[in-house]
Amino acid sequence: MSDSSEHTQGHVRPAPESFIKPDLVASISAHGIDDERRGLLKGAFASALVAMTGKAVAGESDPNIVNVPEWSKILGKSVATNPYGLPSKYEANIIRRQSPGLTQTDQASVAFTPLQSMFGMITPSGLHFERHHQGWVDIDPSRHRFMINGLVKTPMVFTMEELMRMPSVSRMHFLECGANTALEWGNSAVPTVQYTHGMLSGSEWTGVPLSLLLERAGIDLAKAKYILAEGADGSSMTRTINIENALDDCIVAYGQNGEMIRPEQGYPLRLVVPGVQGVSWVKWLRRIEVGDQPYAAKDEASHYVDLMPDGMQRQYTAIQEAKSVITSPSGGQKLMNQGYYCVTGLAWSGRGVVKKVEVSADGGRNWHEARIEGPALPKMITRFNFDWVWKGEEALLQSRVTDSTGYVQPQRTELIAVRGTRSIYHNNAIQTWRVNQSGEVENVQLG
Ligand code: MTE
Repeated sequence: MSDSSEHTQGHVRPAPESFIKPDLVASISAHGIDDERRGLLKGAFASALVAMTGKAVAGESDPNIVNVPEWSKILGKSVATNPYGLPSKYEANIIRRQSPGLTQTDQASVAFTPLQSMFGMITPSGLHFERHHQGWVDIDPSRHRFMINGLVKTPMVFTMEELMRMPSVSRMHFLECGANTALEWGNSAVPTVQYTHGMLSGSEWTGVPLSLLLERAGIDLAKAKYILAEGADGSSMTRTINIENALDDCIVAYGQNGEMIRPEQGYPLRLVVPGVQGVSWVKWLRRIEVGDQPYAAKDEASHYVDLMPDGMQRQYTAIQEAKSVITSPSGGQKLMNQGYYCVTGLAWSGRGVVKKVEVSADGGRNWHEARIEGPALPKMITRFNFDWVWKGEEALLQSRVTDSTGYVQPQRTELIAVRGTRSIYHNNAIQTWRVNQSGEVENVQLG
């Protein structure tokens, strides 16, 4: 579904939950400040909270006790009303969204994840972003086959049943499209984090390690340098992956977040290539060929290359470098009143683990370490939180990640100095959200 009116006016009406309501304050009013929270509250920040919450805790009676709501007096719905559970009807605004006008057809298109409304590090499967080159298909698993050929002793064809009887692993990894944040290479083009960073998801993937399948087929390790992964959809998506990645942590996956992969995500089989850009995570996977040179397929010779300032194209830049973004407060939201806010966001690195996240409220002049809400797993999105008291001043909110290799996420000006502004892919620059004195938050670019 697209909401063209909101988007083309350059203003996104925040979803009800995405207003930064004094949620936390309300919940503290209702429940009191627990010990763990009290440990976090210090100095001006603690006094601000006490000032905001004191009256409510002391004086007001609970309206739900005085005025018992109807749901406390009825027989609720029966157990099988929703044989497959659905979100509350009050959450109907939290959906994947297309960016109107971005693509010419709805099949070769993208629908973005509402990052501003997510908690923790797992993306609900129904909100996982979608990026298809020629629409999605719902394949009959009993008719699906997966083949391994090329530089192997015994070319093999597997049924789904055979694959699902093999030893499996479950691993949590992020999936980020190489084109995520593409619209930010030029001017700040889109108003919300859903559109700037919403081609990003985190899931638990289950399947057979690719290394095991290649071993079963008798891979010729002396000659094998690359694999080609091929999808069964109409786009004939094919991608070259180097053999080090293939033998390391790739998974031929059928499970996502505890159930079968959703059709939009490649049911019944997709390749999981941890840390590598999304296009290599071939969906509806039907074949892997082992070879001794890169295949220069259509999806890697003319697309998914980086146009450099000197006019040359950079090819096979697969790894998603360390990146982070504040998801709330973020563009399109509004701070309703002064006081405490939990600045929250996501950080990730295709090269390893998130080691440190810092937050700045003044456009990068001063940095403060954020809390990493573990576990921080390799090649997985990691949640961070930062306690902030807004006193009504204009603020420039930024986050900056350092990964386990020591790499520090660059400011936009630093990235552009190397890459220019004509790229589409691999924009991992620091994102800035300006909080105006009115409390409105907007996407801005500094420098
Ligand atoms: N695999 C096939 N077979 N067809 C596709 O169109 N899109 C690729 C990749 N795998 C694609 C594909 C791209 S560009 C991305 S970013 C990811 O799948 C998106 O995965 P998702 O739709 O599950 O988010």
